Amino acid sequence: MQTVTGQSGTKEDANETESSSDTQEPAQTEEPGGSSQEETQRTGAKALVVFFSATGNTKAVAETLAELEGTDIYEIVPEQPYTDEDLNYNDRTTRATAEQNDPDARPAIQGSITDFEQYEVVYVGYPNWWASIPMPIASFLEEYDFTGKTIIPFCSHGGGRFGQSLTAIAKLAPDAQMGEGLSVHYSGGNSLPDDVAEWLENNGINVSGRQGR
Ligand SMILES: Cc1cc2nc3c(=O)[nH]c(=O)nc-3n(C[C@H](O)[C@H](O)[C@H](O)COP(=O)(O)O)c2cc1C
Repeated sequence: MQTVTGQSGTKEDANETESSSDTQEPAQTEEPGGSSQEETQRTGAKALVVFFSATGNTKAVAETLAELEGTDIYEIVPEQPYTDEDLNYNDRTTRATAEQNDPDARPAIQGSITDFEQYEVVYVGYPNWWASIPMPIASFLEEYDFTGKTIIPFCSHGGGRFGQSLTAIAKLAPDAQMGEGLSVHYSGGNSLPDDVAEWLENNGINVSGRQGR
């Protein structure tokens, strides 16, 4: 895997709902594997793993994925990092929660991706925050042009799986196809590599660099 940085992009708008199930922290929604379109079957498509992770769980999934697929990987880093207090969802006035309650919140993110155009498949990883995407993901999705690309979401969660995040992504990147996603409970535990590999297998994705299994 190769870490990328650089430049490129364009934009769009956001927001919405779905079903609910086992909650953990904030209100939760559960959705099966992912709103998808059968478009996930690709051969030799160049892929990029993009992720945002505040406490490392999504990062571990992203790294496992990029390793297995042999893809480039790019971390979304907010210009203003989230502190522990920012992440305290028990206090609704703290930053992460306040942002989730503001549909227009678009926290600035550092840097940009070089030659984003070259990627046909973009894995987008994030923690479930208040049953949706963290707002830095909204910033990212609006910044780039996803026309003709397939987004394959993956998230780390505390029980709520994807929540409404898939709908949020689809609204922010309406020009993208959506592949079948993977949700992981917190860090995913010891079975993470097997779970990621199984998901890739079931998803029928075969990107350049992948060794095949
Ligand atoms: C502000 C905030 C809101 C959260 N909301 C939810 C939620 O609605 N549902 C859920 O299952 N987990 C929720 N979580 C838990 C995270 O999804 C979980 O801890 C995840 O593993 C964090 O991933 P990370 O280490 O990549 O940041 C929330 C965490 C934070 C900080």
